[in-house]
Amino acid sequence: MDAHKRLTIGLFGFGVVGEGLYRILQQTPSLKARIKKVCIKHPGKKRNAPEDLFTTDRDELLNDPEINVIVEVINETEPAFEIVTTALKNGKDVVSASKKMLAEHLAALLELQKETDRSILYEAAACASIPVIRNLEEYYDNDLLHSLRAIVNGSTNFILTKMFEEKLEFKQALLLAQQLGFAESDPSLDVEGIDAVNKWALLLVHAYGIVADPKKIVFNGIQNIQAGDATVAAEKHYEIKLVGQAKKLLNGKVAAFVLPQFVKSDDHLSFVKNEYNGVVIESGFADKQFFYGKGAGSFPTASAVLSDLSALRYQYRYEYKKLYHHAPLELTDEFYVKAYVSFDDWAFIPKDKFEWIEEWHAESERKYLIGVLSFRELKSAGWWRENKTSLILTPEPIIEDVEIRKLKKKSLELAGIL
Ligand SMILES: NC(=O)c1ccc[n+]([C@@H]2O[C@H](COP(=O)([O-])OP(=O)(O)OC[C@H]3O[C@@H](n4cnc5c(N)ncnc54)[C@H](OP(=O)(O)O)[C@@H]3O)[C@@H](O)[C@H]2O)c1
Repeated sequence: MDAHKRLTIGLFGFGVVGEGLYRILQQTPSLKARIKKVCIKHPGKKRNAPEDLFTTDRDELLNDPEINVIVEVINETEPAFEIVTTALKNGKDVVSASKKMLAEHLAALLELQKETDRSILYEAAACASIPVIRNLEEYYDNDLLHSLRAIVNGSTNFILTKMFEEKLEFKQALLLAQQLGFAESDPSLDVEGIDAVNKWALLLVHAYGIVADPKKIVFNGIQNIQAGDATVAAEKHYEIKLVGQAKKLLNGKVAAFVLPQFVKSDDHLSFVKNEYNGVVIESGFADKQFFYGKGAGSFPTASAVLSDLSALRYQYRYEYKKLYHHAPLELTDEFYVKAYVSFDDWAFIPKDKFEWIEEWHAESERKYLIGVLSFRELKSAGWWRENKTSLILTPEPIIEDVEIRKLKKKSLELAGIL
């Protein structure tokens, strides 16, 4: 007897990801998964699939009792949420890649999974082809997971690579990313860090059981990074990456943010180029582990959807172990970060907000400093993203309270005050 469930799929979306899935399923007959119907938005578009497969009536899929799985890969957030909630309520399992929708509605979706006893899987929404969610969920115990650092946005990583290695202008690099299908249809989602912070919210629940509204996580994108920042980075043998970070502090709480960061040349993340994503997990006993793979694009993303479909065949579901089976952890703002800040005019920089300043270069037109700020300051103030100010964290940027007191004391001692 075949213990595996036969999957009859209702597919929403036939764009980069949806069509990729359709092609992959044609090449994987062993999965015993069949797309019965595809719902799209614009009926007039030319499709590379039989015409009778398509509809614009979502109820044809959501109310079909034969369809037991809904794959939702559309690019509109609220319709995606409606589709997913209706599917779960109608007793169907769901696979989704819509990170914005998932991150913004995570709390409601957690409740709905409990209420309906159905499964929603979304590996493709985090790092596309890298199986990071299921790994965090299944492999790393709460107590053992020290930190998570990752490049989760393939498009900004592609742009940074092309800008700084091939000297392309920002706009050229963005256009190339869009042409290759690596960028979201609305590029500000990528460039301003919104896509990355949405993914970070999804990873936080599986890493530490933290359900955080993405709007409340401190983040920025790469929109303010200037050619001069790359020059300083190169002088210091660093690269610039957009990095998501989550670290369990000594007080048991978690520091989390998504910000541009200098990474050293021997950091695993410096190896991650172009549209690739990379995740470095530090855990007790196992030490550092590095996951690397394509974070966007048709087949890489569809491959994660396929893997979720395959998992549904044996009734796999996320248990949200860190949230429901352990004491979930909390986010904290009680720590400090060391940052490089470049700017056009001192008037834009509140110098008194820095705990201390280690370096400062005021001679050229574009000035910069390296100093330590409380994270609370970053969270509450906007100066560091305004007036073309560029803030880039230094490598190993987190300074915990205990350490800072020691450092302050040391500097006072050196100054002969203590
Ligand atoms: N592209 C990637 O590399 C990637 C990676 C990870 C996750 N994702 C996520 O996956 C999702 C899909 O991305 P994509 O790149 O495949 O988008 P896309 O190429 O723009 O395709 C979107 C598809 O959704 C359909 N659609 C839009 N609104 C709809 C509605 N209300 N009802 C039914 N169908 C609707 C469109 O229909 P028409 O064809 O008729 O216009 C189109 O087929 C997004 O949430 C994205 O964030 C994408």
